[in-house]
Amino acid sequence: MRQAGRYMPEYRAIRKKASLLEICHTPELAANVTLMPVDQLGVDAAIVFADILLPFEPMGLGLSFEEGVGPVIARPIRTAKDVDTLPEVDPDADLGFVLETVRITSTALERRVPVIGFAGAPFTLASYAIEGGPTRSFHATKRFMYNNPDAWNRLLGRLAEAVGRYLAAQARAGAGALQLFDSWVGCLSREDYTRFVMPHTKRALEIAGESAVPLIHFGTGTSMLLDLMADAGGDVIGVDWRIPLDRAWDAVGPRGIQGNLDPAALSAPTSELKHQVRMVIQQAGGRPGHIFNLGHGVPPTTDPDRLRAVVDMVKEGSVARV
Ligand code: CP3
Repeated sequence: MRQAGRYMPEYRAIRKKASLLEICHTPELAANVTLMPVDQLGVDAAIVFADILLPFEPMGLGLSFEEGVGPVIARPIRTAKDVDTLPEVDPDADLGFVLETVRITSTALERRVPVIGFAGAPFTLASYAIEGGPTRSFHATKRFMYNNPDAWNRLLGRLAEAVGRYLAAQARAGAGALQLFDSWVGCLSREDYTRFVMPHTKRALEIAGESAVPLIHFGTGTSMLLDLMADAGGDVIGVDWRIPLDRAWDAVGPRGIQGNLDPAALSAPTSELKHQVRMVIQQAGGRPGHIFNLGHGVPPTTDPDRLRAVVDMVKEGSVARV
């Protein structure tokens, strides 16, 4: 994830002329950026260049990205009435530009390399919609969840429908796999995840699953939630570096796992980076269905050569095992 981005000089050059949102809204540009890591790094999949927060535009929440802050939501959701007056999102009409990016990239790659479509999970989207921007505490989100449980369920229910349909539309446009990002769900207890989130995530994945392409269900800090996330759905569970892959497999059972190199290892000396990559492969233990990935996004300060080195190490490691 965040496979393309600020660590690439070519991306920074495009960003001098266009904002992140402008790139997303211009399918030719977004497709260009999507393809960069495939050509430059030799990765086995492209992830469509978009953002999980794009559905906030048609929802009328007012989305912008500010330098040094991150996403800013101009009209956050604060009351039950805010939930009930949200317009419905029609992925084909409202997010057609992302679908067009998927179409262009999947055609360009001729399915030689699959394109991963993606969306934010109901909880992670709700947290941005309620907080109005990035947070560490998720206090406003949880306050809303505990104090307005009915409105919370209506909000997550609507998000689940929108996101499920959006993912299915990306599959129809040519995506070969779909990833649901529940990046911040690790801030919840098992009890709260089960009661307030799981049914909605399950619904989103159910709708997306009608498209019959593999579903990847990702979160960070989720070591205590993995069995529940697996119950919610996903052919593949994405995990971060805080849990060794063998233990993650014990929790999710016989399905694929995507992960889990610590992105910070990209700044380590080569010998340490090699050790970290080897550890991930060793903990995967040759199980079928390991998709090597970082545990979270590429840090903007990363030297692209380090990523190329990781791709080479992984490919050598996989070949050595065959
Ligand atoms: O190749 C790719 O992976 C790019 C596509 C992509 C982006 N965002 C573009 C982007 C993907 C898969 C995302 C997902 C995304 N966006 C997530 C889930 C994955 C995760 O990291 O947990 C989340 C939580 C967001 C919301 C978001 N978008 C934040 C918090 C930020 C600010 C982060 C920062 O470091 O400034 C963004 C901005 C954003 N989205 C960038 C990119 C490449 C930063 C670069 C820029 O401003 O040009």
